[in-house]
Amino acid sequence: MRRLLRWLNERLELQDSLVPLVDHPVPRELGSRVGWFYVFGSVTLALFIVQVVTGVALAMTYVPAPISAYDSLRFITDDAVLGRLVRGIHYWGAAAMVILVLVHMTQVFLFGAHRYPRELNWMSGSILLLLTLAMAFTGQLLRWDQDAYWAVVVAAEQVGRVPLIGDLMAHVVVAGNDVGGATLTRFFATHVFLIPALIFGLIGVHLYLVVKRGISEPPKPGQGVDRATYKERYEAVLAQGIPFYPEVVWRDVVVAFGAVAIVVALAATVGPVALGQPPDPTVILADPRPDWYFLGYFALLALIPPDAETVVIVLLPLLAFAFLFLLPLARPFGERHWSRRPGAVAVVAIPFIAYVALIVAGEQSPWSPILTRTASLPPAVTAGLDAQQRRGADLFLSKGCWSCHMIDGSGGRKGPDLSRIAARQSPDRIVQRILSGGGGNMPSYAATISPQDLADLTAFLETRR
Ligand code: HEC
Repeated sequence: MRRLLRWLNERLELQDSLVPLVDHPVPRELGSRVGWFYVFGSVTLALFIVQVVTGVALAMTYVPAPISAYDSLRFITDDAVLGRLVRGIHYWGAAAMVILVLVHMTQVFLFGAHRYPRELNWMSGSILLLLTLAMAFTGQLLRWDQDAYWAVVVAAEQVGRVPLIGDLMAHVVVAGNDVGGATLTRFFATHVFLIPALIFGLIGVHLYLVVKRGISEPPKPGQGVDRATYKERYEAVLAQGIPFYPEVVWRDVVVAFGAVAIVVALAATVGPVALGQPPDPTVILADPRPDWYFLGYFALLALIPPDAETVVIVLLPLLAFAFLFLLPLARPFGERHWSRRPGAVAVVAIPFIAYVALIVAGEQSPWSPILTRTASLPPAVTAGLDAQQRRGADLFLSKGCWSCHMIDGSGGRKGPDLSRIAARQSPDRIVQRILSGGGGNMPSYAATISPQDLADLTAFLETRR
């Protein structure tokens, strides 16, 4: 064994390439409790490796062609040995990776570690974030169900709005004029070859920089980064430092195993996201919805006024990324500790709170009627109604009122809750509203409702006080 290692080492010179990766010196404080804040990069890397392994396993069975993609995923999910578990790990692993990349960046930013001389660590990292999101997006399409199909149609619409080159870009995204077999092939190649290759390359650059520039020392309030003195001070810190292996790395290993264990547990219990209906371009009643981490953006698109769409769709992501990417160049020197950087805390907290609110809004999608055929009212609402009121309750469902209006917690959110409508509006006003519609958001029923139906419906609504 020893001779084999010596033979290899003579040819590979591992002592100056791989060995520094494990035993490079790091600041002494990382051996204490604050070391727990420094684990997220390694954890993201561990999750990436899990994604590679499960992704390769899925690609062994998945068939990236429109007639077979959906069925092959059905097979993986329902019949293949461990297929459901592997798909589940890949699905939850993707979500975990998105979260951990963001947690890692937040920690780096709040610790001021993006400042001089580690600007390029940050910049390569922000491209890795972009690539991770691109993986999540292209992966969703490979499910090739209704949601996936419409997600690409929407994406193509969006890039189509970019001035001048929009058409060309939309053409590149969908690989032709409309979403079909060529699109699936292109997304597959992008998801399994192109982006992973870029990620591998950039992880190499990122790790090289982590080792070369060294891990930043935990910040102290009042002790900023100064071009003249920082390098010298950092060298003094490292001279007192401890080796990454074994004194520091065990925290990374513990949290990485914990994260992977949570992903596997979720895959085994909750399982992968259910496949929707097979895609069918003629079914426009689909309610396409991206996976939850994109749901906030989806909500934003639904809520903005139409005039602002182009700005929000094209400019906002571009500016957000440019801001993120160029952040360390704006202020490479100065205070590092978060307690002295209220602006930095706001830059993290405000988008975070806003995005969570948007995800919640996206989950409820109050802007669109519910389009299912299984509308129903709670039994308590229909109990004790007379014959006319009961007909009215049925009309409330069959005329589509339910899909926009909620009664006692059942129904859509596009229009006002009608649980107590009779306490608020006189019968005349209710009749008038049904006939005339309102605000462009409620259809006018004047042409499609008979006087009898109108009377029944109003009789039912009159019970709601
Ligand atoms: C496409 C969604 C949609 C459908 C379908 C719909 N409504 Fe509405 N409805 C709305 C919206 C939005 C408003 C609020 C409009 C406004 O303020 O001008 C509204 C307002 C109302 C109001 C007034 C509520 C108040 O608080 O003053 C009543 C009553 C009402 N709808 C009843 C009905 C009935 C009955 C039906 C079925 C026959 C129905 N709506 C179908 C969207 C809808």
